[in-house]
Amino acid sequence: MAVGLRLAVGCDHGGFKLKEEIIKMLQDKGYEFKDFGTFSEVSVDYPDIALEVARAVQDGTYDRGILICGTGVGIGIAANKLAGIRAALCHDTFTARASREHNDANILTMGERVIGPGLAKDVVNIWLETDFAGGRHTRRIEKIAGIEKEYGGDRGGKHRG
Ligand code: RB5
Repeated sequence: MAVGLRLAVGCDHGGFKLKEEIIKMLQDKGYEFKDFGTFSEVSVDYPDIALEVARAVQDGTYDRGILICGTGVGIGIAANKLAGIRAALCHDTFTARASREHNDANILTMGERVIGPGLAKDVVNIWLETDFAGGRHTRRIEKIAGIEKEYGGDRGGKHRG
């Protein structure tokens, strides 16, 4: 089931080396994916990559995304600005599994400066192979969507101080 997924993968310069390792693994396992860059360790701005990958997941061109920066934090914050994106920062396998079962996370983020490649590959594999559990978790996902609708974007500035 997992191998049928279409994946959007991206990183900034801080995540470039780990992204290369993850891509090699995805290739070896036969996943269909698109590499949205960046393609070197030359400095780039992580929101630009996050936006491209998140839009590709949001519009359904890809089923899920993997985003890597130095910490996994900035690139995930940016991706989560898009409605319908549930980006989860996972540096351990328990969180990776739970982010799928409970949160139906559609983007995985990781930090190359935080996690080694061996554990990162385990995190990716578990995250890709775990299904959303549904049930009571569906109601909570729907509440997140409700928050996006009411408070997301630039709609009335309710979220501004
Ligand atoms: C880039 O130096 C670094 O800030 C970025 O990769 C990421 O860690 C941001 O959250």
